[in-house]
Amino acid sequence: EKPGLELTVVSVPSYACQRHTPLLHHNTILTDALSILAENAELSENEGRGVAFRRAAALLKSLPQEVRGAEQLRGLPCLGEHSLRVIKEVLEDGVSHEVETTTHSEQFKAMKALTGIFGVGAKTADRWFREGIHTPSNLQRSGHTLNRAQRAGVCYYDELNLPVTKPEAVAIGQIVERAVHAVLPGAEMTLIGGFRRGKQTGHDVDFLITHPDEGREEGLMPKVVSWLEAQGFLLYQKTTGNSYLESKEGPARPASNMDRFERCFSIFRLSTDNEGREIQTGREIQTGEGPRSWRAVRVDLVVSPYSQFAFALLGWTGSKLFERELRRWAIHEKAMTLSSHALYDRKRYLRASSEEEIFAHLGLEYIPPCDRNA
Ligand code: CTP
Ligand code: MN
Ligand code: MN
Ligand code: MN
Repeated sequence: EKPGLELTVVSVPSYACQRHTPLLHHNTILTDALSILAENAELSENEGRGVAFRRAAALLKSLPQEVRGAEQLRGLPCLGEHSLRVIKEVLEDGVSHEVETTTHSEQFKAMKALTGIFGVGAKTADRWFREGIHTPSNLQRSGHTLNRAQRAGVCYYDELNLPVTKPEAVAIGQIVERAVHAVLPGAEMTLIGGFRRGKQTGHDVDFLITHPDEGREEGLMPKVVSWLEAQGFLLYQKTTGNSYLESKEGPARPASNMDRFERCFSIFRLSTDNEGREIQTGREIQTGEGPRSWRAVRVDLVVSPYSQFAFALLGWTGSKLFERELRRWAIHEKAMTLSSHALYDRKRYLRASSEEEIFAHLGLEYIPPCDRNA
């Protein structure tokens, strides 16, 4: 046996929520390949297959060393037959035939381009693809009636597919904070999603808003949105009210993984020069009419009651796979139900005022946000 090829890992736990998964890891070539196949499966609405590839990729992200040979993978969990085949191919040949075929396939490219339009999901994109629509410009020429979200999505297509930088996220945070404090003094705002996990770029910016006096947060979103609109910060917004039932026994048990918080999916107009009060982000947007001094940025806002804040924080920090693994751990290993609203041990509601308490209720070691990049 060649020396230096043994991984120093003795055993790796099988749920991603039991592991530390940093943003930067040692197996990017392998995880990039698996992520393409996961994405393709998700775009083909094959969720199970997508999750299998995501789990395999997450396992590799958590390893302390680069994998150099397939023999190092012996005994590791989460690596299905298909994923192992792809990994071996990449290790031996540098590329996977299946990944190459996928990346170059007309369907994959079209599905990515169409679902890259804000407001367009896999189902709609697939219907359009079958009609011969492969790009946003094909779509515009097709004469299809688009809804309000999709019209905004097409209008700001290029910008919304440009990664949001950390300075841009900070600038948006300052605006949201001003809005929140203007309409409800004492309200608190927290950066969630990928930026809370330490990512340097994102596809959007996510914020969670709450108020220490339970009840004061009710109806907060429409006020925040009105303030932002009056100041000219919103290019698009869709607000959904809180549809959550609460009783004496605690928050209602989740009917699905979707949470019921008051929320707003929006597109911000962010100044990129110093004319406005926002900080300089040093980026010039090129349009058909030449450069302009602002850009469109996707922003998600969520409001939670104070008593559910820890659950909302945990549920909205991600990654999506980490969240899925937490819920799977809760059900299969602890017979508990976890949502972004609550944790239930059968009928009993378990209170928590911090993420640490939730991990403790679940019998898990605390994993900080920067290590939830599964
Ligand atoms: N989320 C959710 N319900 C939704 C949308 C998102 O609970 N309807 C959660 C996701 O599970 C994720 C978090 O909100 O944990 C952030 O979602 P998203 O912004 O899509 O992903 P990020 O991890 O922030 O990645 P990116 O940087 O690309 O935005
Ligand atoms: Mn080969
Ligand atoms: Mn996000
Ligand atoms: Mn989001």
